[in-house]
Amino acid sequence: MSFQILGTGSALPACRKTNDDLSQLVDTSDEWIVTRTGIRERRILTTETVTQIAVAAAKNALENSGITAADLDFIICPTLAGDYMTPSLACVVQMELGASCPAVDVNGACSGFLYGLDYAEGVFARGKAKYVLVLAAERLSRILDWTDRSTCVLFGDAAAAVVLGEGDALRFLEVTAKGNLCLASPLGNGSCPYTEPDTRKPGLLMKSREVYTFAVGSIASGIEKAAAATGIAPEETDYFFLHQANLRIIETARKKLGLPQEKFPVNIEKYGNTSAVSIPLLLDEWNRAGRLHPGQHLVMCAFGAGLTTGTAAIDWTK
Ligand code: UT7
Repeated sequence: MSFQILGTGSALPACRKTNDDLSQLVDTSDEWIVTRTGIRERRILTTETVTQIAVAAAKNALENSGITAADLDFIICPTLAGDYMTPSLACVVQMELGASCPAVDVNGACSGFLYGLDYAEGVFARGKAKYVLVLAAERLSRILDWTDRSTCVLFGDAAAAVVLGEGDALRFLEVTAKGNLCLASPLGNGSCPYTEPDTRKPGLLMKSREVYTFAVGSIASGIEKAAAATGIAPEETDYFFLHQANLRIIETARKKLGLPQEKFPVNIEKYGNTSAVSIPLLLDEWNRAGRLHPGQHLVMCAFGAGLTTGTAAIDWTK
C-alpha cells in the first residue's frame, strides 16, 4: 500500500516584488532576470509569518480533500526552517490546526517535497496512517543577502500542501543526496562566549553554473529512471511537474528529452524559486484550474542544495 493525492492547497504572502522593484536595491534589470531565469516577480513575507501561510495552505488542502485536521495521522513539513529553530514548523502547524498526530520537519532543500513524499510512503507502508499532510513552507527571503544580485533576484516565499490518503497511485519514488557545499547557507555560532566568531559570509552562497549543470542532468536522469521503472514512456506521461528554479533549466532539460512544451507546466514567472514549495504550488494551481483528471500520469522532479534530488511518478486519482 502506498498513497494517492486526495487534495492540494497553497497560500502566498501578499507582498509582491517585481524585477523593477529589485533593480532599486541591486544593480540588475528586468531584462537580465527574465532572460536568464524566466522570473518576473516573487512574493515576500513582510507582515505574515511562515506559520500563517503554512496553516492557510494546510486548511486549503484539507478542504480540497474533504477531511478534517482531526483525521490526520502524520504531518510532514518540507522546509529549511519555520519560525523557530525548535519546535519544528510541523509541530506549530499541528497546534494551530488543532490536530493531534505526530509532526516533523524534513530539510531536503529544493527537493524537500519529494523527500516529504518519501517519508510519507514509509508511514503508509508501516500501516501507521490513513491520512498524511505533506506541507511545504519556505521563507527564503530571510536567508538571502539582499545586496547580492546573483542570488537575491532568484527566490520567493510561499507555502503549499498535499493531503495523502491510502492508495496505489504512487508508481515510483526515488530521492538521492550527494554531499556538496556548492549551494549553502551557513548558520553562525550564536553568542557563545567560548566560541571563535564565525567568519563565513552569511546569505545563500551558490556556485550557480555547477548547480545549473547538476539540475539539467538530474532532471533528465530522473525522468528516464521513472520511465524505466514504471514502463510509462515520457511521451505517454501527461505532465512533468518540475522544480521551478529557472525556466532555462526546465527548457534545456525538456529539449534534451525531446518532449513538447505543453507537458511542462510552469509558474516561475510569478513566484521565482520557492524551494520545497514550488512543485506542490504548481500542482495546486493546476488542480484548482481543473487541468488534472483521474487517470493522468504525472512525474515530479526536483533538485537542490545538498546536493539532493527527488523524482516521483504518480497517477492523478482525484
Ligand atoms: O533550486 C536550486 C537553486 N539554484 C539554481 O537553480 C541556480 C542554477 N543556476 C542558474 O539558474 C544560473 O546559473 C543563474 C540564473 C543563477 C545565472 O545565470 P548565468 O547565465 O549562469 O549567469 P552567470 O552566473 O554566468 O553570470 C553572468 C553575468 C556575471 O557578470 P560577468 O562576470 O559576466 O561580468 C554576473 O555578475 O551576469 C552577472 N549577474 C547579473 N547581472 C545582472 C549575476 N546576477 C545578475 C543580476 N543582474 N541579477
